[in-house]
Amino acid sequence: MKYSKILGVGSYLPPHVWTNEDLSKMMETSDEWIQQRTGIKQRHWVDLDSDTCSSDLALVAAERALASANVKKDEIDLIIFATLSPDHEFPGTACFFQEKIGIPGIPALDVRQQCTGFIYGLSIADQFIKTGMYRKVLLVGAEVHSKGLDRSTRGRDVAVLFGDGAGAAVIGVGEEPRDSRVSQIYSTHLHADGRFAKELWVPEPSNAHPGDRLTADRLIEGGHYPKMHGKTVFVHAVKRMPEVLLESLKANQVSIEEIDLFVFHQANLRINEMVASQLGIPAEKVFNTIERFGNTTAATIPIGLDEAVRAGKLKTGMLVATAAFGSGFTWASALLRW
Ligand code: UT7
Repeated sequence: MKYSKILGVGSYLPPHVWTNEDLSKMMETSDEWIQQRTGIKQRHWVDLDSDTCSSDLALVAAERALASANVKKDEIDLIIFATLSPDHEFPGTACFFQEKIGIPGIPALDVRQQCTGFIYGLSIADQFIKTGMYRKVLLVGAEVHSKGLDRSTRGRDVAVLFGDGAGAAVIGVGEEPRDSRVSQIYSTHLHADGRFAKELWVPEPSNAHPGDRLTADRLIEGGHYPKMHGKTVFVHAVKRMPEVLLESLKANQVSIEEIDLFVFHQANLRINEMVASQLGIPAEKVFNTIERFGNTTAATIPIGLDEAVRAGKLKTGMLVATAAFGSGFTWASALLRW
């Protein structure tokens, strides 16, 4: 059997930074509330008057990942695009992205698993490489949340949390057998529980109504904006993330102490602190980006990996654990040797 490994990562954040103070001019909120409840200080949003889509942010991140992997785009066998903010309802954003990056003909698929999308995508890439069907996969997580948020006081419980951005990874064939210095994706662990699908979702447009998928009335009511029961999501996140992380450690017979770096999803600093404290993980081993970027959903983990590499915190040979939880509910983990 073949093994897979991450050959390179890249990321891109749009240049415009919105501080908590900036948001408080749009809606009734405060820097104090946002920082205390979430740890977020600022987020990057695209220029709201621009035509920038998730596939545009993805393009820059992907080009950076290809450069860091030293792989030419023509070598890619498969594109996987994880997003909850697609450019259009259909076709999948992978197709719009494929046109922009200029590699027609190869398969391109979307993953719609929200905050867990990157790990789901990593797992798909891993399986295709292990079976020998593909040799190089370009996996992207990209989001333009800003344009889809209710940026009035009505939407403040969700709007202050999310940022725009993109991250990408090139996954290729790794060496075998497993040894302590060889880069490799050790395992991925995926879960979902659709009983909680409406705890964090976008109700409209929907075929669940008789007649049209979207009406002017439902638009005015704001049904096309994300809705969240924050406390329920929080309670499940702090349970599922440690659980799925321990699952990956058990599968590989690795202890918490052996992990060099934890790159978690970034939904709320308090969630990550609670996960770390439950598992006895020292704070310096957790790489957080939420203060600067907010929650960038499917882009969060590849942005985190790239930032950690560039900050000198993630180096070749390190054992890295990653875990995410989000809408669906979905949750997942991956353990890899960098
Ligand atoms: O990545 C996807 C997964 N998402 C998550 O993991 C998010 C998980 N949930 C959370 O992180 C937290 O539940 C939030 C940060 C979203 C909210 O924190 P909370 O401590 O659960 O606050 P809350 O929703 O209970 O709201 C407390 C108060 C409410 O006012 P009252 O009813 O107590 O008067 C809200 O109306 O805070 C109010 N509030 C705000 N105030 C200022 C809600 N949003 C805001 C805001 N600014 N942006």
